[in-house]
Amino acid sequence: MHIQIDEISKAFGSTAALNPVSLNIPGGALVALLGPSGSGKTTLLRILGGLEFPTSGRVLFDGQDATGMTVQQRRAGFVFQSYALFRHMTVFDNIAYGLRARPRALRPTKAEVARRVTKLLDLIQLPQIADRYPSQLSGGQRQRVALARALAIEPRMLLLDEPFGALDAQTKRAMQDHLLEVWRRTRATVVMVTHDVEEAIYLSSRVYVLSSHPGRVAAEVPVPFPDDRTPRIKRTPEFGELVEQVEAILIDNR
Ligand SMILES: Nc1ncnc2c1ncn2[C@@H]1O[C@H](COP(=O)(O)OP(=O)(O)OP(=O)(O)O)[C@@H](O)[C@H]1O
Ligand SMILES: [Mg+2]
Repeated sequence: MHIQIDEISKAFGSTAALNPVSLNIPGGALVALLGPSGSGKTTLLRILGGLEFPTSGRVLFDGQDATGMTVQQRRAGFVFQSYALFRHMTVFDNIAYGLRARPRALRPTKAEVARRVTKLLDLIQLPQIADRYPSQLSGGQRQRVALARALAIEPRMLLLDEPFGALDAQTKRAMQDHLLEVWRRTRATVVMVTHDVEEAIYLSSRVYVLSSHPGRVAAEVPVPFPDDRTPRIKRTPEFGELVEQVEAILIDNR
């Protein structure tokens, strides 16, 4: 789904969180949002998902005005850094949650829910853990389950807010490749917030750098690597140059 953010601004009382921000995110793209703390990244994701409403401006999905759409109508999958799983629910029930929460007429049958959860557990390569509780999983496994839960509703867009921020470097790298694999298979439009410049460049086809007070788009950097990239690109000179370029933009916009 093609996402257009058209001159969105957001104020919380006297705090201007977003100055008019405009972004044009092609359908099926994976884009990254970078920027200092307080530059409005989370606010922008929440506005896209319908958890927050803009003070002015419009959001368009596939050309249609979505500014007044409810959370359910938008069908966004969310993964947050600290928005952990429901602790009292098994992995199966966590993933099934969004499907079971649908109004009765739209709710899949019990068998259909089970079929979809099984498929998602395969997709995140954790087929054996349906009956476990979150406390019985590693951090990386939990984030994969969170990703599966976000995918269960067949989202039109996936909104990721520092989803791998709490993971160790090795698990994080594995998760990045998981995400790329899931994205290639589902072709959901993905908007990912991260503080990690290398992660932003490795995963996305476009990096938006926001600046703070109030948040606005300071730069838009296209990433010229193919969709079927592998970790090897991180060792190329082009990758290194792009990292330096984006880091310089971040320093200029602190
Ligand atoms: N509910 C709220 N009420 C008041 N102010 C808010 C609210 N949510 C966010 N803000 C303010 O809006 C600005 C942008 O916040 P936001 O959480 O979007 O930043 P961010 O870029 O995600 O930062 P971080 O990198 O620290 O997560 C900040 O100044 C913040 O204090
Ligand atoms: Mg944030």
